[in-house]
Amino acid sequence: MAEQKATNVTWHDGDIAREDRNQLLGQQGATLWFTGLSGSGKSTVAVALEQALFHRSKLSYRLDGDNIRLGINKNLGFSADDRSENIRRIGEIAKLFVDSGVIALSSFISPYRADRDRVRELHAESNFAFIEVFVDCSLAEAEARDPKGLYRKARAGEIKNFTGIDDPYEAPTQPEIHLHTDKMTLEEEVDVIMDYLEQHGFIDSHQ
Ligand code: ADX
Repeated sequence: MAEQKATNVTWHDGDIAREDRNQLLGQQGATLWFTGLSGSGKSTVAVALEQALFHRSKLSYRLDGDNIRLGINKNLGFSADDRSENIRRIGEIAKLFVDSGVIALSSFISPYRADRDRVRELHAESNFAFIEVFVDCSLAEAEARDPKGLYRKARAGEIKNFTGIDDPYEAPTQPEIHLHTDKMTLEEEVDVIMDYLEQHGFIDSHQ
């Protein structure tokens, strides 16, 4: 857990509330937290979902492992501590998006249950929705896909601490949404999530 270093700082509220922004956008902000092995399909689902939401005039924004690690988290690697800090920062960023009324689509391996649970708690403290989406795919299938050729490198010993090979992945025990990307089509996966968002009132039902 990161400590609060700065002293004499206080939260400053604005005059426009979260509910006002939700009303403006015609949706409820929420974090969809995609977790799963590298190559499981997290980013693919997030990209397709972003498009489906856009076509329904709903605003979402993707926070993606590789992209974030090229920017705000460029100083973090893949040690357990760095992965925890990676997830902590993304959790805080996702919260800002939710507060703005946007549906944040966070795709990170986020291999440690405790880190994901901390982000969940962080959201709960502010009464923000945190929807954990387990992008479930067997290691064998993810490795067969190997879209970035990283499993091959990890097996060859060229990448150390690679999730699933010589670093752990702790699967969610009670995710809100469980996708089996080695058995479902991308379209089915998007439908499952859209149905969830409709049924829980984050977006209005399809007219
Ligand atoms: S996390 O574990 O901290 O949540 P994150 O999702 O940000 O990981 O980044 C994972 C991506 O970084 C992978 O999809 C892969 O492209 C790349 N990567 C590079 N090295 C590793 C590694 N040792 N373990 C896992 N992913 C790695």
